[in-house]
Amino acid sequence: PDRYAVFGNPIGHSKSPLIHAAFARQTGQDIVYEARLAALDGFTQAAITFAVEGGRGANVTVPFKEEAFRLATQLSERAAKAEAVNTLTFKGDEILGDNTDGAGLVRDIRDNLHFEPAGKRILLMGAGGAARGVIQPLLEAKPAALMVVNRTEEKAHLLRDFFNGIKTGGYADLQGRQFDLVINATSSGLSDQLPPLPDTVFSDGALAYDMMYGRETPFMRFAREHGTTVADGLGMLVEQAAEAFFIWRGVRPQTAPVIAQFRAA
Ligand code: ATR
Repeated sequence: PDRYAVFGNPIGHSKSPLIHAAFARQTGQDIVYEARLAALDGFTQAAITFAVEGGRGANVTVPFKEEAFRLATQLSERAAKAEAVNTLTFKGDEILGDNTDGAGLVRDIRDNLHFEPAGKRILLMGAGGAARGVIQPLLEAKPAALMVVNRTEEKAHLLRDFFNGIKTGGYADLQGRQFDLVINATSSGLSDQLPPLPDTVFSDGALAYDMMYGRETPFMRFAREHGTTVADGLGMLVEQAAEAFFIWRGVRPQTAPVIAQFRAA
């Protein structure tokens, strides 16, 4: 079998091996996919070692996506824009870097949640790696507007140099504005905190999307209390994996049964 791995730190709770095993079973692809812990200062070494051992590709998760971006010898356009790589393909002496996070998010929103982002007002919270990785694919979905807000406002403003057509600001700028799709790409849920959103931020029929999964974040609770439809990041996780699987194997797995399986578990 061809070998793949996901690198992260921590990596123990990664669902990626189970997701790719399900994809392989479903499509009859003969692969093995394992989780590998890399030392915080050891990612590049670990990835190169894996390639030398015959690994065909790797996924990269927190905190190594920026380092993977620098390791790649060739970049997809979306990875170049994001300055972050979550999917590596080892091909001879070349290391191809791609980023499937944004495509996974947009696909989850469209195909699984049946929400069409074209023409909608989108608010993206956060300006770290997670936010940056999804901006270009969101813009390509042709929203009416994409506003990016961040607690440290200046970090949001800096993104304007990289992404044409976004609006940026701080949470105070949200007063009097409404959005049809509000995406949480901050890490605030990890510390059980809620970004300072005004009560009036959701339009009628809005979708609130938290890129986090496996827990109910204060943002999800806040959105629910305001009568908004809420989604967590499980669908995005499975969809970004499917996009990586497609890059490596040329086959697009069905994601719905895998998402359903994880929901049930
Ligand atoms: P990631 O790779 O997950 O994006 P990151 O680069 O550390 O992680 O970025 C974390 C993001 O969550 C940042 O946008 C951060 O805002 P700051 O730039 O102001 O630090 C945001 N964030 C974290 N905790 C937050 C909170 N309690 N409220 C609002 N934003 C928060």
